[in-house]
Amino acid sequence: MSNQLEKVQELIALRNEARLGGGEKAIQKQHERGKYTARERIAQLLDEGSFEEIDMFVRHRCYNFGQEKKSFLGDGVVTGYGTIEGRLVYVFAQDFTVFGGSLSETMAQKICKIMDMAMKMGAPVIGLNDSGGARIQEGINALSGYAEIFQRNILASGVIPQISGILGPCAGGAVYSPALTDFTIMTKGISYMFLTGPKVVKTVTGEDVTQDQLGGAEVHSAKSGVAHFAAADGEETLKIIRKLFSYIPQNNLEEPPLAPCNDPIDRLEDSLNDIIPDSATRPYDMYEVIGAIVDNGEFLEIQRDYAKNIIIGFARFNGQSVGIVANQPKFLAGVLDSNASRKAARFVRFCDAFNIPLVTLVDVPGFLPGTGQEYNAVILHGAKLLYAYGEATVPKVTVTLRKSYGGSHIVMSCKQLRGDMNYAWPTAEIAVMGGAGAVEVLYAKEAKAAEDPAAVLKEKEAEYNKLFCNPYNAARYGYIDDVIEPRNTRFRIIRALQQLATKKVVNPAKKHGNIPL
Ligand code: HXC
Repeated sequence: MSNQLEKVQELIALRNEARLGGGEKAIQKQHERGKYTARERIAQLLDEGSFEEIDMFVRHRCYNFGQEKKSFLGDGVVTGYGTIEGRLVYVFAQDFTVFGGSLSETMAQKICKIMDMAMKMGAPVIGLNDSGGARIQEGINALSGYAEIFQRNILASGVIPQISGILGPCAGGAVYSPALTDFTIMTKGISYMFLTGPKVVKTVTGEDVTQDQLGGAEVHSAKSGVAHFAAADGEETLKIIRKLFSYIPQNNLEEPPLAPCNDPIDRLEDSLNDIIPDSATRPYDMYEVIGAIVDNGEFLEIQRDYAKNIIIGFARFNGQSVGIVANQPKFLAGVLDSNASRKAARFVRFCDAFNIPLVTLVDVPGFLPGTGQEYNAVILHGAKLLYAYGEATVPKVTVTLRKSYGGSHIVMSCKQLRGDMNYAWPTAEIAVMGGAGAVEVLYAKEAKAAEDPAAVLKEKEAEYNKLFCNPYNAARYGYIDDVIEPRNTRFRIIRALQQLATKKVVNPAKKHGNIPL
């Protein structure tokens, strides 16, 4: 065998060794835990055969605790690039078979390298997390590695999309990288995220909790709002990431991909002309409205189980990707509260950062009153949504279906927050407050003095409703651009979006604003 052939054989052997990560036994253990390996996950995530690995020969440089005797090619993370539906993405997948995927100095360098490449090339970064946290043997160098990653997450925010899949442990400060990214998808049963684990919780607070109760996928998708999706298993986690990508652009200078559309743009939905119940207090399901108007009824909902009084997610109109924000009258009457405001605000800002038009469907009775909300800073959280809409320069189309009262009317992408096209259904009620409440304030004295106070209030309420609880008063002042037939909503939104395709608005130059956090 020639020298060169020998060297080629050596390379092949080294590559094969690297592909085994922490070794066959560790891979078997990973499978027994119900988890795929880092390379298996990358293969499922990317287009077949598209992955190009980088830094396969990196090894750690630690000499503490006998680490020099134990090192693996690739060192705990698989990094590289590939494509999803033919579009370039950068990927890192932590390899639990190597020191439990714990983060070393060199591992952080590998991750930072692909993050830097993604920024240079203007392509998204996907991180697949499965790690025991900072590699304990490396001390401060591991911490420094985390900080280097966080700094890049921050600089990349709003420039390239960043997505985190959580497919195993993600604990301690490690949780901050996913928290800084745009979307976090957790996997039920095998993933958890928390700052301090159950043992520390027990010591400090005396509370007994399991890992799942403290930071499992259900907890973070329904209670804390940290996770945007809770997938049934690892495969579904990766499928969701692929699906998400179909709606978003490569970077903040590009448009989202246009999908072919075979759903007629002028499709009339007669059911919408009769969807609003006669009684103002009876709910209907906003999902039915969304399903009826978007292309082929397809809607990728985000944070489905968190703050259900507001619905957010991606859909398409005539193939164009949009972000939908809609009050849900079926849950808490669609009221705005702290969690709903925070949820929608972050989504609005994502869409605005990445050139995705916003379609807002309004049926909101107001902000939820009470000490629970006020002590929880609903003022600041509501202001976040206000700020997000007011700051957004992407095309904004708003349709008011029914209630739109007071502060919540303003917050939900009203005309004065630079709403581009603001439509209303004939059933819209756009006013300072509802009729019953308004007459209690205006006619309390008159009613008290009357023989039949209830009759006075009823009469005044009818008068108020006639004057204010309709779309025409707002339309009279141009605050509503048109009152539309509900069954025609799809077509009117598509027309509006077509018209707004060349919209250009630039906010005043500044270092950055001071969003109420
Ligand atoms: C070094 C680690 C490690 C770590 C796991 N391993 N975590 N090695 N540093 N942080 C190693 C284990 O020693 C073991 O090595 C292998 O990975 C697999 O781990 P197991 O414990 O066998 O797996 P499992 O039973 O599934 O438990 C997984 C685990 C547990 C729950 C993650 O390993 C664990 O509790 N690890 C420590 C978690 C932690 O406290 N991390 C530091 C947090 S502080 P062998 O050789 O036996 O196979 C932190 C600060 C970050 O992260 C701050 C950033 C700002």
